[in-house]
Amino acid sequence: MNNEVSVTAVHPDIERVLVTEEQLRKRNADLGAMISHDYTDREVLVVGVLKGAAWFVSDLTRHMTCDFTVDYMAVSSYGAAHKSSGVVRILKDLEVPLEGRHVLIAEDILDTGLTLKYLIRNFLGRGAASVEVAACVVKEGAQEEEVDVKYEGFVLPNEFVVGYGLDYAQRYRGLPYIGVLRPSVYEGE
Ligand code: PRP
Repeated sequence: MNNEVSVTAVHPDIERVLVTEEQLRKRNADLGAMISHDYTDREVLVVGVLKGAAWFVSDLTRHMTCDFTVDYMAVSSYGAAHKSSGVVRILKDLEVPLEGRHVLIAEDILDTGLTLKYLIRNFLGRGAASVEVAACVVKEGAQEEEVDVKYEGFVLPNEFVVGYGLDYAQRYRGLPYIGVLRPSVYEGE
């Protein structure tokens, strides 16, 4: 077997890498430790927002030592385009009731804030005892709705980013880093 460390080539559609695989690993470890500290005395329900947050939830929870369970919700706000439609639709709901539960929403990205604003209000309406947010990426200056992100991964410039769960027309989610998509990929859509 070849034990040489392989260097992943950057995808040709990526203009530049903003967050490396190593930076993601370290930040997830830090956030996992912070969350574990904050929830030592109560079980937390981690709600991943599909599809984009699947990668973040998977890595983050591996660094959590507190008691937790995981559920997923699927909502859509973008469709196939790269701009928010402003419409939040529930495509898949939670499997567990939220009454009295401490909820941590895990999102891949906070962009306009419409999705998280909607989810927080929705979860409190279902009787959650508390609702906090962990977001891997917060886009700088893009928020139309104010959302309190307690566990923030990276604040990135307001550009079109993909990778680590983030897509363009369902592509690029598997890239192990977060990078800026070349405009030529989506121009003329
Ligand atoms: C993306 C992302 C967030 C939302 C954030 O989801 O995963 O859920 O947009 O945008 P906002 O702050 O402007 O509401 P998307 O609808 O693209 O679905 P996906 O997770 O399946 O890619």
